[in-house]
Parts: sequence; structure tokens; C-alpha cells
Amino acid sequence: MVQWSDKFTTGSDTLDYQHQTLIDNINQLEKLLLLSHPTREDYEYIIQMVDFLEFYAHAHFKTEEQCMEAFRCPAHAKNKQAHADFMRFFSNFKAHNRAKGFPREIVIELHGVANRWIVEHILQVDTQLRPCMKG
Ligand SMILES: [Fe+2]
Repeated sequence: MVQWSDKFTTGSDTLDYQHQTLIDNINQLEKLLLLSHPTREDYEYIIQMVDFLEFYAHAHFKTEEQCMEAFRCPAHAKNKQAHADFMRFFSNFKAHNRAKGFPREIVIELHGVANRWIVEHILQVDTQLRPCMKG
């Protein structure tokens, strides 16, 4: 589980709120994936959460890119590229596994990648916005 802390702050309340929502959802997905005997309904909910995460990440990335551009953040181009790469990874992953009905191990793998990516990305790229918002 990822614990929100001040090290994730970007200087924008909106972006911080969206990051917290993303992290909450990733943690929620992790809890569901830890269920020892998921029902069919649990599993359908898991798949819906994966779709929601993709949708939410996409909307959030747009907001964040506009903010970085408006505040002339030097990380803007790198951020935009990283977002595009992540969305491409996510949609390829889904395209390859939808026909197989998303086996649990596959969703666990997707969760692990998304979890690591989001934490690293916020800390290394998104937080570069902080000094720009102050300046
Ligand atoms: Fe970002």
C-alpha cells in the first residue's frame, strides 16, 4: 500500500488531490487483488477499477500537462512524454489480455507496474512543478 505523504506534493492542490485519488484507487485495487476467494462480482469490480484507473489517469494527465505548461515548468516535455508512454503501455496491456478475460496474475502484474510507475513518476517528475508554482 502506498501511504500519501508531503514528499508527493506538487504545489497545486488540484493535482495533489488527483494524485491522492489515484493512489487511493491503486490501494483499493491491491486490497481486492489480495482477496483469497474473489467472487465473480468481486472480479467484475476489479476489471471496472482497471478501466476507471485508465480513464482517471488520462484525465489527470491532461490537467497536469496544462498546469506545467502554464507555469513554464522545465519538466513539461518529459512529463508529457512519460504520460504518453504510460497510456500506451496501459492500453496495449489491456488489448493483449482482454480476450483472455484478464486472469488474476495479469491484473496483479498490471497493478505492480502502475503502482511503481505512479510513485516514481510523482517523485521524480511531477514534484518538479513545486518550485515553478512558488516562483
Ligand atoms: Fe505527471
